[in-house]
Amino acid sequence: MVNKMNHYDEFYEKLKAEYEQQFPLAKLAQERAQRCLVDGGSHAARQWTPYAFRARSAHGARVEDIDGHSIIDFWQGHYANILGHNPPLITQTLVEDLQRGDGLHTGLLEELEAEYACVLAKVVGVEQVRLTTAGTLATMYAIMLARAFTNRKIVLKISGGWHGANPLALKGVGPNGHGYDHVDSAGVPNSTETEVLVTPFNDPDNLRKVFRSAGDRIACFIFEPCLGSAGFAPASMEFMQAARELTAQYGALLILDEVITGFRFCASGAQRLYGVSPDLSTYGKIIGGGMPISAVAGRADVMGLASGQAGPNRVMFNGGTFSSHPLSMRAGLTMIRYLCENEGTVYPQLRASSQALFEGIERVFAQNGILARCMGLHNPEFLKGSLGAIYFPNKADFVPQNAEDFGDAALAGAPLREKALKLGMLLNEVNVVHGLGAVSLAHNRTDFDQVYAACEAFAGRLKSAGVL
Ligand SMILES: Cc1ncc(COP(=O)(O)O)c(C=O)c1O
Repeated sequence: MVNKMNHYDEFYEKLKAEYEQQFPLAKLAQERAQRCLVDGGSHAARQWTPYAFRARSAHGARVEDIDGHSIIDFWQGHYANILGHNPPLITQTLVEDLQRGDGLHTGLLEELEAEYACVLAKVVGVEQVRLTTAGTLATMYAIMLARAFTNRKIVLKISGGWHGANPLALKGVGPNGHGYDHVDSAGVPNSTETEVLVTPFNDPDNLRKVFRSAGDRIACFIFEPCLGSAGFAPASMEFMQAARELTAQYGALLILDEVITGFRFCASGAQRLYGVSPDLSTYGKIIGGGMPISAVAGRADVMGLASGQAGPNRVMFNGGTFSSHPLSMRAGLTMIRYLCENEGTVYPQLRASSQALFEGIERVFAQNGILARCMGLHNPEFLKGSLGAIYFPNKADFVPQNAEDFGDAALAGAPLREKALKLGMLLNEVNVVHGLGAVSLAHNRTDFDQVYAACEAFAGRLKSAGVL
């Protein structure tokens, strides 16, 4: 627990000063970028205080930055790059297309698109899919489909659940000091306030309560199998089953947002490992092989509402100008095929190396007298994988179950993890996000040794500053 907060501010200020010393060119780049680019970048998750480093190139586990660092990266393209940055498997395929003078002629129907869709539908076990370009759009379309299909309005989501900046789910994303029961963005329709309900992750009792009181008005319940804002805490089997049973009982649709978890634990959705069939699922990130692809996948009767022949209940699910872009289809198909054909080696290898890393991190902190834990290590066997997050619990056996737990300063050392750990690890050339991130197949033992050294250095800083 952060029991010496008075030292913390001083500690953090020192880290910031050291960071600015080590990343001087990034500071200048940030200043230049801010002249015309809001905040200097197009996504809040790519920025941090005092400013982000600037990548020059990225290969495998590492990013080379303009200040001359070689940084081990666990952000890995917002967790999309399961084979690491720029894997030759994909880059060579794209180069071949481009060398033939092909690949940028978007907007035409091609057999490649149908091939991609058929492969995806088969491996995720659904009747129909439709493709678009961002996870945000996929979740928006999935919710529109559910509302049209059920002829109901209410969207039930999880506190801390992030489904992109989608106005139909921009409530209860981040805490505001009074919990999660608020709209997160200005500029959305008033209905976001009244038609989105929020319930805590892994709390089946509250879920039952919400369905008892509003079940006949709920169009859909959308959630991630592993909650990103809870350090990837997995849904308990009880919660997953309650979600499936309650949605079916009350005539609502279950939407699993597998944008992060799809193809992360196995060559399909995490739903396969839970043995649950949602009505709709959303996929993104890994399924694009590094290119922008996302998908809504599910029951033919629901997906059929996206059809031009659907009649008055038609949902205007048009994937967008760049949907099914030829280069995206090529990259995505190559990636999905690779993961399916090598499922028996890719996932066990990823799991073994990640679990060894998570264990090693806990061990190094313990050896240096700091109580730190790593999310991902404490998952049930069937969901031990490559998503992890370091946290600083107040008790050795405390494992966060939801965003409320993981965001708690006293229970899980949230400010220390989000701000100080971020800079402390970067000072040793390791890029962690919300405590760690996603391990890729490109990360190796040498990288892990550097991570352990970074943890040791950070533990030393914590002790000498008297923070923990
Ligand atoms: C679970 C989940 N859903 C949806 C999204 C939105 O995806 P995108 O950023 O591709 O729009 C994200 C993005 O991180 C996500 O983590």
